[in-house]
Amino acid sequence: MNVQIRPVREEDRDAVMELASQLTEGVAEWRDPGAVAEAARQWLAGFFAPSPEQRGAVFVATADGEVVGMVSVNTHRHFTGPVEAYIGELAVAPHAVRMGVGRRLLSTAEDWARRQGLRHLTLETAAGNTTARRFYAAVGYREEAIRFTRVLD
Ligand SMILES: CC(C)(COP(=O)(O)OP(=O)(O)OC[C@H]1O[C@@H](n2cnc3c(N)ncnc32)[C@H](O)[C@@H]1OP(=O)(O)O)[C@@H](O)C(=O)NCCC(=O)NCCS
Repeated sequence: MNVQIRPVREEDRDAVMELASQLTEGVAEWRDPGAVAEAARQWLAGFFAPSPEQRGAVFVATADGEVVGMVSVNTHRHFTGPVEAYIGELAVAPHAVRMGVGRRLLSTAEDWARRQGLRHLTLETAAGNTTARRFYAAVGYREEAIRFTRVLD
């Protein structure tokens, strides 16, 4: 597969929106699935809003002209002080997984972060998203924080 990575364009909207369902992977069973799906759609739709609120970058991976993955990267301030890069969303189309697309997208986000002069790139994923956890570990990311939830009676 001949994969190219480039900044997102307006014409990618439909293909990027198709990836929203990928972003619900592994979300805890006590969360409302409909609300999770809607949030994922809104995150992606935000990239195409007339005046995006946040600075940052969105890249797509294409194969033979078709969008097969996307990554968004932004900045936030860590509680210890430094601003760092933060991956908001990363998704690869089901038919294109395990071909190195995720690795290429992440590497592009890392290059973006380096160009901003940032030292760390962080992200969060659902504890139940075993695919993502294996992927991030395989490409050199280390687990930093764990969030606990108790469902109250
Ligand atoms: C997680 C995700 C982005 C990985 O993308 P991908 O293009 O399949 O990843 P790559 O092909 O670059 O994989 C790189 C390495 O990660 C590891 N890896 C990826 N998927 C894996 C899986 N299902 N099981 C175990 N290891 C896996 C492997 O070591 C792989 O290298 P290999 O194929 O040579 O063994 C993709 O599965 C996805 O879109 N998932 C749904 C959305 C999501 O969970 N996003 C992340 C949370 S924000």
